[in-house]
Amino acid sequence: MTIRNILTYPEKSLMQPSAKVESIDDEIRTLITDMGETMFDAPGVGLAAPQVGVNKRVIVYNIHAGNPDDDGSTNEFKALINPEILEASGSIISEKEACLSVVDYSADVKRYETVVVKALNIDGNTIEFKADGILSVIMQHEIDHLDGILFINRISVLKRSLYKKKLAKELNSN
Ligand code: NI
Repeated sequence: MTIRNILTYPEKSLMQPSAKVESIDDEIRTLITDMGETMFDAPGVGLAAPQVGVNKRVIVYNIHAGNPDDDGSTNEFKALINPEILEASGSIISEKEACLSVVDYSADVKRYETVVVKALNIDGNTIEFKADGILSVIMQHEIDHLDGILFINRISVLKRSLYKKKLAKELNSN
């Protein structure tokens, strides 16, 4: 198990679409193990492979995300391979949404309230499930990563340009 380096905006590969996984081999299994460890170390509730520099359609998420009884110590996660959103309905504001690849920034993002996700699990079996609330937001956020989309692409142009200015200032002052 290895904690991998998390790429941050404006790294170009984060903005590129990721390729479908053709076979779940040792490389993919190792990637998933490392992604789980990297996510809990960060800490975050979800992580997509392009964030660790692998442009393949793999995401991991904390299965206890949003559960008020979870103290974060169980480190239980699931991986989804080639995840797709089959259905989406309703609308919620994801308050102060953040991303491990977008440093020191959060914003309210409009998201679907409920999504139906289809994916392969680590054993290569097709699974389909409905996600609401926080889990629904995680699914939309992480699957967006696989299409090269960050949450700052889903906020207003004005807010995004303010973030870019702030980031440019920080980068220049280093
Ligand atoms: Ni993210």
